Amino acid sequence: MTDTISESPAAAPEPTSSSPGEPLLDVRGLVKHFPTKGGGLVRRKILQVRAVDGIDLSVGAGESLGLVGESGCGKSTTGRLISRLLEPTGGTIRYDGHDITHATRKQMAPIRTEIQMIFQDPYSSLNPRQTVGAIVGAPMEVNNINPEGGRKKRSQELLERVGLNPEHYNRFPHEFSGGQRQRIGIARALALQPKLIVADEPVSALDVSIQAQVVNLLQGLQRDMGIAFVFIAHDLAVVRHFSQRVAVMYLGKIVEIADRTSLYSNPHHPYTHTLLAAVPETDPDKASERTRVHAFGDMPSPINPPSGCRFRTRCPKAQDVCAAEEPPLIAVESLLAGHRVACHFPGPIEATARAEEAMPDERIEAALEAGIIEDPQ
Ligand SMILES: Nc1ncnc2c1ncn2[C@@H]1O[C@H](COP(=O)(O)OP(=O)(O)OP(=O)(O)O)[C@@H](O)[C@H]1O
Ligand code: SF4
Ligand SMILES: [Mg+2]
Repeated sequence: MTDTISESPAAAPEPTSSSPGEPLLDVRGLVKHFPTKGGGLVRRKILQVRAVDGIDLSVGAGESLGLVGESGCGKSTTGRLISRLLEPTGGTIRYDGHDITHATRKQMAPIRTEIQMIFQDPYSSLNPRQTVGAIVGAPMEVNNINPEGGRKKRSQELLERVGLNPEHYNRFPHEFSGGQRQRIGIARALALQPKLIVADEPVSALDVSIQAQVVNLLQGLQRDMGIAFVFIAHDLAVVRHFSQRVAVMYLGKIVEIADRTSLYSNPHHPYTHTLLAAVPETDPDKASERTRVHAFGDMPSPINPPSGCRFRTRCPKAQDVCAAEEPPLIAVESLLAGHRVACHFPGPIEATARAEEAMPDERIEAALEAGIIEDPQ
């Protein structure tokens, strides 16, 4: 199995039109393992990096799903699998009624125009030798699309739509700031009128003051053009106002997924609690009430993830069953429909904070040593 999509000629994906109510994007049991060489000088074993290890998610037309988790948990791999820039190891990807899991380059051609990506780094994702006009117009040229009024006019309209001066058509990327370059990348993603944009940390490389402007721009596009988004971020603050639903990812798995309101107001997975503790609270009254919950140490290697629940080595609530049985991602009775959690002991933030307070001595010592908690003395 290759890491890029295959070239072999075949019939286009079966044009099974989506049934009413079927989401635009539907991902089931998605898996991506990267082979890698293990240690040892003589007989080096081939090991598997289990970057994405069986995830389910769906995105409706015009909807925005936030995908959040710390570095290395598999967010970009998920985004690139959805965009079919990577070949999945397992599972299925359905887009607008088509099974595109193993679609070839040729089969993907008509669909590729509808799914676009925006990348994290606005510096490296633009060719420095091309003018802004050439960059934004490239997708139309590659796909032989000739809009009414010509490609130049269309490109200038797109520049205007993303808040840039259409007169800057002949300038080069180095003449623009980081935020402006990201706007150029967004204009390029809009050139083919996509239905779905996978935005991989589109604001992480930008100054905080610029981040909100770019998020507002994307929000406006979602609202005005009805574009669906998978918005990838490493913290919950960025997706808070943008995504209708949020999925929290840990070590190749989704551990909690819910409607935005339910997730932020009533998180039930201990890992979501730790991520929320890192979100700055803008309301000073609420900030003083905010319960801090910590996770121990670093994320384990995706080559050899912990047995049972993958979060158990860092979880203040871990029990024996957590090592023995993997918790399925399921609905919790007391929560709103669609709110699902993968935890044997799901609960509100206070319950996790209490568990943290009741940690056995050796775990407290380890946490003190690692600087995760402070000595009250
Ligand atoms: N081509 C590859 N070959 C081998 N391992 C890979 C490859 N791409 C990603 N990985 C590994 O897969 C895991 C998930 O990587 P991924 O880039 O999807 O994480 P991420 O959540 O996007 O992280 P970040 O927040 O740092 O961007 C990591 O351990 C990474 O090292
Ligand atoms: S299953 Fe156990 S280890 Fe995993 S998050 Fe829940 S309580 Fe923690
Ligand atoms: Mg990434």
